[in-house]
Amino acid sequence: MRKIILTGDRPTGRLHLGHYVGSLRRRVALQNSGEYEKILIMIADAQALTDNFDNPEKVRQNIIEVALDYLSVGLDPSISILFVQSQISELTELTYYYLNLVSVARLYRNPTVKAEIQMRNFEASIPTGFLCYPVSQAADITAFKATTVPVGEDQLPMLEQTREIVRKFNSIYQETLVEPDVLLPENSACMRLPGTDGKAKMSKSLGNCIFLADDPEEVRQKIMNMYTDPLHLKVSDPGHVEGNTVFTYLDAFCQPRHFGEYLPEYASLDELKEHYQRGGLGDVKIKKFLNSIIQEELAPIRERRKEYEKDIGAVYDILKAGCNAARAIAQQTLNEVKAAMKINYFDDEALIQTHKEKYANGTI
Ligand code: TRP
Repeated sequence: MRKIILTGDRPTGRLHLGHYVGSLRRRVALQNSGEYEKILIMIADAQALTDNFDNPEKVRQNIIEVALDYLSVGLDPSISILFVQSQISELTELTYYYLNLVSVARLYRNPTVKAEIQMRNFEASIPTGFLCYPVSQAADITAFKATTVPVGEDQLPMLEQTREIVRKFNSIYQETLVEPDVLLPENSACMRLPGTDGKAKMSKSLGNCIFLADDPEEVRQKIMNMYTDPLHLKVSDPGHVEGNTVFTYLDAFCQPRHFGEYLPEYASLDELKEHYQRGGLGDVKIKKFLNSIIQEELAPIRERRKEYEKDIGAVYDILKAGCNAARAIAQQTLNEVKAAMKINYFDDEALIQTHKEKYANGTI
């Protein structure tokens, strides 16, 4: 089967290490695997507006930031189509038809929507657009007949909702849409990378993020101030590894070769963890090790960003070309959807012929 990737991010800020291990790094690997016929990466500005409708400037300023982050991690516009959601009006059109296939009760039951409603104090008055964004997300995915959607765990309910819409559409109308599979991050540390303060999630508003665009000194300071084990006061104290942010980050970033390069007295992460738990291993040492690894990972990303920053016009051109390519694909799917729903009147010769015949007798 032809494999197609579609995924994306809301442009509400610069992307950080949580985005990187949760999805970006994987996307680049998938792109470079050559196994996919098409790869579409979308800046989900229309979705960002469902809870930022009163702050369009924030969304508008962050399109270029996310585009620069995409390019700097190694998404290659000659292989992957990078585009902006709002510029593909076919997605809005598909959403409108899919809304018929979803009940309001089902949308209220979506766990991610539920959590977000609480977080944003929308309980009293939920904007309809916000409640319905999972349907719009189904349009994003199906418009490109995506088979594979690499996302974080929090997006599972969106994928489930998409699959339901696909099944319903195909059974009511005609086999047209493709049921996508989700591709989750490789391990639990990557699934939900905590903030540098140890809080459950990296989030811009909590100020606990390491951004891909941070300079080396900012990164170093954030790592040296990272939350570790509050009970590990002296180097000789036995330490805890679970819930220790430095070790969670090591789980997400450390590879066997890093020991040879930066910490040759240990052979593996397990060995390092054992020593920490036994006592006698200080936080500064593990933080320095983590810093070396993260700096190595971020250096080429930062370099690439600097190159692209020199020609912002070219980055806008990349997005514009991506939009044109994405639109052509979405248009084709929308045509098929309309044909399946029998709302393609002017292309339907048979329909016109029947009506001609119906009224032919009376006229002569
Ligand atoms: N909901 C995703 C997020 O918040 C962004 C998104 C919009 C998306 N449409 C998508 C992700 C389609 C995957 C597929 O990050």
